[in-house]
Amino acid sequence: MPAALHWAPALAAMFPHAFRTPTMALLTILEFPDARLRTKAVPVDVAGIAAPEFQKRLDDMFETMYDAPGIGLAASQVDVHQRFMVIDISEEKNSPMVFINPEILGKEGEEVCQEGCLSVPNIFADVTRAANIRVRATDRKGASFEMDADGLLAVCIQHEMDHLDGKLFVDYLSPLKREMVKKKLAKAAREKKAA
Ligand code: NI
Repeated sequence: MPAALHWAPALAAMFPHAFRTPTMALLTILEFPDARLRTKAVPVDVAGIAAPEFQKRLDDMFETMYDAPGIGLAASQVDVHQRFMVIDISEEKNSPMVFINPEILGKEGEEVCQEGCLSVPNIFADVTRAANIRVRATDRKGASFEMDADGLLAVCIQHEMDHLDGKLFVDYLSPLKREMVKKKLAKAAREKKAA
């Protein structure tokens, strides 16, 4: 193996957002009101997690999320309608988490948080969600795990799990507000086209 490749994984772990291997690819993120975002995702066959194509998809999703930049990305957002998502809420972008077939085992409390979404660019709105959750999922090595989450991580997990059910954070807004969001995005798309 050439010497340059030896340090590549270590460097990639230190600077995942700045370091792109030639095999990584940025994926296209679907944007609201694209009907494909409404697809209910099907469970991942855990026997296929180790397959190079699935592992590469996870890498590409991280790359796409860091590049955007965002803190979470559900497979539904890149037009893959299977139940998995990637999350990294760390400032340093060095704590990647993979949730395959996630399930919420318990919810407690309420918290209002201003949310945004890579599929609804430049729109932010308050959403009420459970403050504490217990979640079970499978990681990228195929191992099942359970964890408690609160704060931003709890919000992010619930937001991404909604995507897997075809739900967007704008669905929590009043119909009037949601129409305003639609118009704002359509205007932004027109301006982008004209530019
Ligand atoms: Ni989102």
